[in-house]
This record gives sequence, structure tokens and C-alpha cells, in this order.
Amino acid sequence: MSSIEQSGTFSFGGRAVRRLGFGAMRLAGPGVFGPPEDPDAALAVLREAVAGGVNHIDTSDFYGPHVTNRLIREALAPYPDDLVIVTKVGARRGEDASWLPAFSAEELTRAVHDNLRNLGLDVLDVVNFRSMLGTHGPAEGSIEAPLAVLAGLQRQGLVRHVGLSNVTPAQVAEGRRICEIGCVQNQCNLAHRGDDALIDELARDGIAYVPFFPLGGFSPLQSSALSAVAGRLGATPMQVALAWLLRRAPNILLIPGTSSVAHLRENLAAAGCVLPDDAMRELDAA
Ligand SMILES: NC(=O)c1ccc[n+]([C@@H]2O[C@H](COP(=O)([O-])OP(=O)(O)OC[C@H]3O[C@@H](n4cnc5c(N)ncnc54)[C@H](OP(=O)(O)O)[C@@H]3O)[C@@H](O)[C@H]2O)c1
Repeated sequence: MSSIEQSGTFSFGGRAVRRLGFGAMRLAGPGVFGPPEDPDAALAVLREAVAGGVNHIDTSDFYGPHVTNRLIREALAPYPDDLVIVTKVGARRGEDASWLPAFSAEELTRAVHDNLRNLGLDVLDVVNFRSMLGTHGPAEGSIEAPLAVLAGLQRQGLVRHVGLSNVTPAQVAEGRRICEIGCVQNQCNLAHRGDDALIDELARDGIAYVPFFPLGGFSPLQSSALSAVAGRLGATPMQVALAWLLRRAPNILLIPGTSSVAHLRENLAAAGCVLPDDAMRELDAA
């Protein structure tokens, strides 16, 4: 069995996806704005991900904007049959690289069509509604109106599955009353565990939970417990951070991001890093 297969699979986007996937945000330029300094290197990372067994890629047209979707299309189209591409709508970029809400029916509809065109698809596998009620974390407020727009685009056949991102448990409950929710993508890692109860609830109901910033995002994780466990297992601290999430719950699907083939290989090899009970206890208590 090759290493990535050891992460197991989860039914998502209508297919069995491997629990170790790839997040494409880091492939855009500095500040997730504009093109990367080395487009060939970005294309190589995407091709290596799929060659390494990844069949779940996370992206958005607001990365760049439009940059990561166009790189994905250039590197991977025509797409492998088993590949699930997850995108998100609900935000847009200002000319100063700021992240702005884009919730209106017109903006959401345009975003779905932009994603279709830039990815070169007739239908999007999964579209997350990314709440911008809070930019840096979830904030309460109804998501009914924008989600109803996405559900309408789903009925038109442009979107197969709808997900939510940067949302509170109350918004997940509201969303599930409006349409079927295939996944929830929120910030979660060893140092950021506010969603524990939500993860367990979604696991019971067979809904994927996709942690963003699994390695700490813009502030990479630093923890003596991670280093200690990594030292004992002959792994790297980043591999242990991913292995901890993989063991945390069966519905967790990982999308670590990197612009480097070496880091990508290291991250995919985390599938083979199975944490013993004592390491889990040590990390849970960290
Ligand atoms: N829904 C949302 O609101 C939201 C928000 C943020 C992100 N996301 C999604 O989540 C994905 C993951 O988030 P992320 O990429 O921002 O954060 P991340 O996966 O937590 O970490 C990425 C950072 O860690 C570094 N890195 C990756 N692998 C490494 C390794 N093995 N050793 C050392 N450093 C390593 C990367 O730098 P190098 O490039 O140098 O490897 C990059 O700086 C994104 O790609 C995006 O698709 C969603």
C-alpha cells in the first residue's frame, strides 16, 4: 500500500476521497494576490500532488484572484475521474489585496460562473459558501439568503454539493435546514480547537469536516509536544500535526497548503504516521 492510501477515504463530493488532500491557496503570489513568482514550480506542485495520490484539491477564484484555478486547469485538465475540486464563494479581493464580502445573488452567481470558466468545468463538484460576516473567524448572523442562492445554482445543475466555511455551529444548523451540507471548512489545528463538539456532531452525521490552516497557516505551528512526539516517531512536527488531525475523527479531510514539492511530499507522507495512544494523549493535553 502506498503511503497516502494509509490515510483512508471518506465519502465526499459523491466520491471516495483520500483523507489527505491539497490546499492550493499557497500557489498564488505573495499575500495570495497575483501570480506566483515561479508558475512552473506551482504547476509542478499540483502535478506531484495528483501523482502522489491526492484526489481532493481545495481552491477558490478569490485566490489571486483567478490564479490558483487557472493553474489547476493548466496543470491537471483534463481532470482525473476521481478528482474532487472544492471551491468557495462569498468573498472578493480589493485592488489593495483586501478580502471583502461578496454575498449578493449577483456576486455569488458570477463567482460560480467564474469558477466554472477558470477551472474549465461544466459543473462544480463542491462549492463552499465562505461566510465573511467575520473575516478572521466565524461571526453569528443568518446565512439563509446567500445559501438559498447557492441552493438555486445547485438546482440549475451548476453545483453538485454545497458546503460551508468560516461558520458557527448555529450557522451549520441553519444551513442544514436550507439544503444538504456536504462539508464544513473551518480553522482548526492543534492550537485552535474551538470546533471539537461540531466535529463530533458532523462525524455522527457523515459530513466532512475540513480544517483550514491545519499547519497553523500564516503562523506555522510551534509546540514542544509536537517536536517531542515527532522526535520519538522519527517524523517531522508538521507530519505529527497532520497525523493528530487524521486520528482525531474519521470525517476530517486534510488540505495542507504548500508551494514546495519537498513540503508536499513530507505532508503526504504523514498518512503513514500513525500516532500511538500515548502520543495522542500528550498532544490532546498540549
Ligand atoms: N475557508 C477559508 O477561509 C480558508 C482560509 C485559509 C485557507 N484555506 C484553505 O486551506 C488550505 C490550507 O491552509 P494554508 O495553506 O493557508 O495553511 P497550512 O496548510 O496550515 O500551512 C501552510 C504554510 O505552512 C508551510 N508548510 C507547508 N508544509 C510544510 C512543511 N512540511 N514544513 C514546513 N512548512 C510547511 C507553507 O509554506 P511553504 O509554501 O513554504 O511550504 C505555508 O506557509 C489553503 O491552501 C486553502 O485551500 C481556506
